[in-house]
Amino acid sequence: MPFIEHMSNADLERLALDRVVPALLTHGFCYVDGLLGEPAGSAVLDQVKEMHRSGELQDGRLAGTVPGINRKSIRGDKIAWVSGTERGCEAISFLLALVDRLISVCASRLGNKAIRERSQAMVACYPGNGAGYVKHVDNPNCDGRCLTCIYYLNKNWDPKEHGGVLRIFPEGKPYMADIKPLFDRLLIFWSDRRNPHEVQPSYATRYAVTVWYFDSKERAEAKKRFRGLTASGEEQSSNSS
Ligand code: OGA
Ligand code: OGA
Ligand code: MN
Repeated sequence: MPFIEHMSNADLERLALDRVVPALLTHGFCYVDGLLGEPAGSAVLDQVKEMHRSGELQDGRLAGTVPGINRKSIRGDKIAWVSGTERGCEAISFLLALVDRLISVCASRLGNKAIRERSQAMVACYPGNGAGYVKHVDNPNCDGRCLTCIYYLNKNWDPKEHGGVLRIFPEGKPYMADIKPLFDRLLIFWSDRRNPHEVQPSYATRYAVTVWYFDSKERAEAKKRFRGLTASGEEQSSNSS
């Protein structure tokens, strides 16, 4: 099924310049409702539901191993990584292309960051058993991730009944921001320590698709550090053999 462009380049440019860029520069986060419109948004939802139904989603992982700590007490989501080129991911691919266009308009206006690449998409489901994700920073240690973009897929979501609110605790600000995970809403925020956030316990199935855009310079340095670690690890094992 071909998807109709819901937003022209002019619409996208206006959205980026009038709303996304100013919000990121002043508040550090921003959300946009009605990103894809009903038919395309629903097609993304159907693809995500199908991935869930067919068992493609696996327990989300923690960055380090934390002995004696139950993973589910930290993050209780089920996830899969997709590039968008997989069969059955056409709607997700359409979403990724639109977010790429939006971010590319914003990129040169967000300071001296070079935002040219992103991660694969993380399809995530909180199964509705009260699991959430405790307060954390996506990129506390300069791994290269610069912007977090989360596209929410939940129709008729009532936070009073279903919980699942994303709460942001902007660094050094006297307020918190509670973002409902509403259908066809795109949330964008800086991935670094400026935006600690949590997913509050979720009592209904909660779906989202997340991508992270990289700052090329920070990413290259992170990869160099990682190779350095690998190299010294290899040296150690050859020394000890
Ligand atoms: C994450 C995360 C937030 C959300 O996966 O790192 O914080 O609202 N998700 O799903
Ligand atoms: C919402 C909302 C307010 C905020 O998520 O729908 O209105 O503080 N959030 O961001
Ligand atoms: Mn996060």
